[in-house]
Amino acid sequence: MAGAQTLTLIGAGRMGTALLRGWLASGLPGPIRVLEPQPGDELKAWATSGRVRLNPDPQPSALLVMAVKPQQFTASSEVARLFAGPETLAVSIMAGVKLAQLSRGLGTARVIRAMPNTPGAIGRGVTAFAAPEEMDAAGIAEARRLLAPLGEVHGPVDEALMPAVTALSGSGPAYLFLLAETMAAAGEAEGLPRELAEALARRTVEGAAALLAQSGEAPDALRRAVTSPGGTTQAALDILMGTGGMPDLLKEAIRAAASRDRQLSKEAG
Ligand SMILES: NC(=O)c1ccc[n+]([C@@H]2O[C@H](COP(=O)([O-])OP(=O)(O)OC[C@H]3O[C@@H](n4cnc5c(N)ncnc54)[C@H](OP(=O)(O)O)[C@@H]3O)[C@@H](O)[C@H]2O)c1
Repeated sequence: MAGAQTLTLIGAGRMGTALLRGWLASGLPGPIRVLEPQPGDELKAWATSGRVRLNPDPQPSALLVMAVKPQQFTASSEVARLFAGPETLAVSIMAGVKLAQLSRGLGTARVIRAMPNTPGAIGRGVTAFAAPEEMDAAGIAEARRLLAPLGEVHGPVDEALMPAVTALSGSGPAYLFLLAETMAAAGEAEGLPRELAEALARRTVEGAAALLAQSGEAPDALRRAVTSPGGTTQAALDILMGTGGMPDLLKEAIRAAASRDRQLSKEAG
């Protein structure tokens, strides 16, 4: 993080607090200015220790991070722009709010539109971000550092790709939760007691994800490694990978999510 640049965070909910926790752990020189109408205990303790200045008087900041809900953007931008000047680098993690809208709302052209996901709350997320073409290299590097506490960071990507990013990784954790849910229900339908089915499904999703992460192997290689020809896994995959199965369904689902994201951006604009 660049020296003693002032940093203001607008909105310390789940994602904002995760960012703040990471910045503080990385020894970022503070105090970090935080606007949050309903501070939780962790935030209050940071304010008491002097590492955070809670709801300070407005003053332009070198770095501004917007972590309110998208529907709170219009109202919060009136206050947020008091913390921004034309040189301010503003990083937004709000779903669907476009670079042009950010720039207009915050009064700076140095804007970054990022899409994280909920595992970011434990530092295990993935974020992709878009920036205006004319964004300077220092702004890109700073945005990467600001987003790092949420996990892996990719970008800049073309802003036109953000609906697809949202549909894949932004909404993606819910697809995995659904998998754990429906695997448990299917196990129960095969006669397993509910509690056992839930424990088996949960650990299977969790363990398989950890194996994917640690082995560094491609998902299809790991899948093939557990599929003996004519075996039980093969019998299941014949159904899951057949016509109308998982590949078709996910393609359709992700297309629907991306199209919804475009629609939401239009409504907001
Ligand atoms: N959670 C996800 O899965 C996810 C994934 C990707 C991106 N995001 C994006 O991340 C952003 C934050 O999500 P979140 O889950 O952290 O939401 P959240 O927990 O609701 O946090 C937003 C926080 O901002 C506060 N706030 C509202 N208006 C404000 C204002 N004018 N000034 C200062 N603070 C204000 C809210 O306070 P009140 O509670 O009092 O309103 C709340 O504490 C959203 O834009 C979302 O699209 C989230």
